[in-house]
Amino acid sequence: MNKNNQPQSKLCRLIQTLTYFEVFPALNWVQNIFQKNPSQDHQNQPNGRKIMGLILVAGATGGVGKRVVKKLLTQGYQVRCLVRDIDKARSILGNDVDLVVGDITKPETLNNLVMSNIQAVICCTAVRVQPVEGDTADRAKYNQGVKFYQPEIVGDTPENVEYQGVKNLVEAARRNLPNSDEKVIFDFTQPSAELKSQLKNIWGALDDVVMGGVSSSNFSILEKTALFAGNVSTANSGGFASVRTKNFDPAINLLGHTGVRLRVKGDGQRYKIFLRTESTWDGVGYSYSFDTVANNWIDVNIPFANLTPVFRAKTVKDCPEIDKSKICSFQLMLSKFEYDGALNPKFAPGSFGLEIESIKAYGGEGLPQFVLVSSAGVTRPGRPGINLDEEPPAVRLNDQLGGILTWKLRGEDSLRSSGIPYTIIRPCALTEEEGGKELIFEQGDNIRGKVSRNDIAELCIQSLTQPKAKNITLEVKQGENNTNSINWEQQFSNLQRDPVNSSIF
Ligand SMILES: NC(=O)c1ccc[n+]([C@@H]2O[C@H](COP(=O)([O-])OP(=O)(O)OC[C@H]3O[C@@H](n4cnc5c(N)ncnc54)[C@H](OP(=O)(O)O)[C@@H]3O)[C@@H](O)[C@H]2O)c1
Repeated sequence: MNKNNQPQSKLCRLIQTLTYFEVFPALNWVQNIFQKNPSQDHQNQPNGRKIMGLILVAGATGGVGKRVVKKLLTQGYQVRCLVRDIDKARSILGNDVDLVVGDITKPETLNNLVMSNIQAVICCTAVRVQPVEGDTADRAKYNQGVKFYQPEIVGDTPENVEYQGVKNLVEAARRNLPNSDEKVIFDFTQPSAELKSQLKNIWGALDDVVMGGVSSSNFSILEKTALFAGNVSTANSGGFASVRTKNFDPAINLLGHTGVRLRVKGDGQRYKIFLRTESTWDGVGYSYSFDTVANNWIDVNIPFANLTPVFRAKTVKDCPEIDKSKICSFQLMLSKFEYDGALNPKFAPGSFGLEIESIKAYGGEGLPQFVLVSSAGVTRPGRPGINLDEEPPAVRLNDQLGGILTWKLRGEDSLRSSGIPYTIIRPCALTEEEGGKELIFEQGDNIRGKVSRNDIAELCIQSLTQPKAKNITLEVKQGENNTNSINWEQQFSNLQRDPVNSSIF
């Protein structure tokens, strides 16, 4: 990529291209010889999770919440923590997390600062329960979850926190979450200064200079669009110009979507887009050709099912369908060729330009966008035939605890009826144990048992990635056996979706 618009030798451009895409990272020192001001950030691989927006964690200072935050950060997500007390939150979560002050019982605090650019919400809030005899500073008696201490509610009421507060958060999320059918991957229409500089480091030119040709192109971020432009030449057996993203790490997960939609304004030529699922430089790409209409904005829908697997413009037979869960890179190309030696019927050598407003995933089922940690037992108070002696304390003592489970159920209902795709997780007794046990999912609210907060935190995060977790209410406890890996898709596959517009059940 010629950042400085200075004439450069073909060798230099070749080296630049290969080093930009880190084909030969060791060549960076060669590039330094040719380039006066080499960028130091070439090595950074863009993060495919961060680019998709951020995850808001409510209750981030709590036992489950702090583990959700830690795991999200470890897994490369961009996280924002909704907290009531900044100093307390810093002492629990450290200095490197994005904190915003808010209180779910005060809807006016769930403002733009809290809700902007969110892609999902994980809500782990709870009214404060503690032993009547008092607790230690680190809430050891409450947190251990197995030994019984006579409990009481301290501070705000269950009605305010578990129902009204959750409802406020759901309502704020409903107004701010993006359309669940659509996932924005690149939106060039309103790039912040930060995004602009990030984008410059993501897209780089990849022209036929790598095969000896002389075509050249670049990718620039304009005020409200991006522009892939340049000059394509067939000299020296060349004939293509392209721009490609660096490999995303972690990859972008587009499970639950039907395809990719481009909003573009071209010059009447036929372009190609490639999606890749391998981080190798020269592997199989999944390609789609699309025609542009000169000087007109058009939407191009590219169903994943219509992508053609190719290796250097040759179609690859017996290639599996694209794995939508791990999109490593995108590439836009203008080429003289279609596939297997056929010519691009709309191709004209010379200067070209393709403006891009956005690249989004569209269609399909979508994924959960709001995960609510509720509790096993919420439907049991007052249920005919229930034997209270066998029930956990929260069920037995629901009335004394201000109707805690009854209000939790009402909070759940506000989410179920919101139209937001959700997962409602109802854990049995939460413990501080390390976890790593198999998880037993149930529906119908009949199980008793215990489960580690660590495992619930992981379940919250995994729910956001599983189409089959959408609009599910589930109870969960741990099993006997340890496990190193859970097949999340399978784990969710036996569950029933909640009836549409369901409220109390
Ligand atoms: N304990 C159990 O055995 C058990 C069993 C099943 C289900 N559950 C449920 O599992 C979930 C997580 O439990 P946990 O033990 O992790 O809870 P926790 O440690 O008590 O954490 C509660 C969190 O909610 C926050 N919060 C409370 N009121 C708020 C408000 N008005 N606005 C914003 N944040 C507020 C607290 O913030 P502050 O730090 O500011 O107080 C804290 O971060 C809860 O819904 C709980 O009811 C618990």
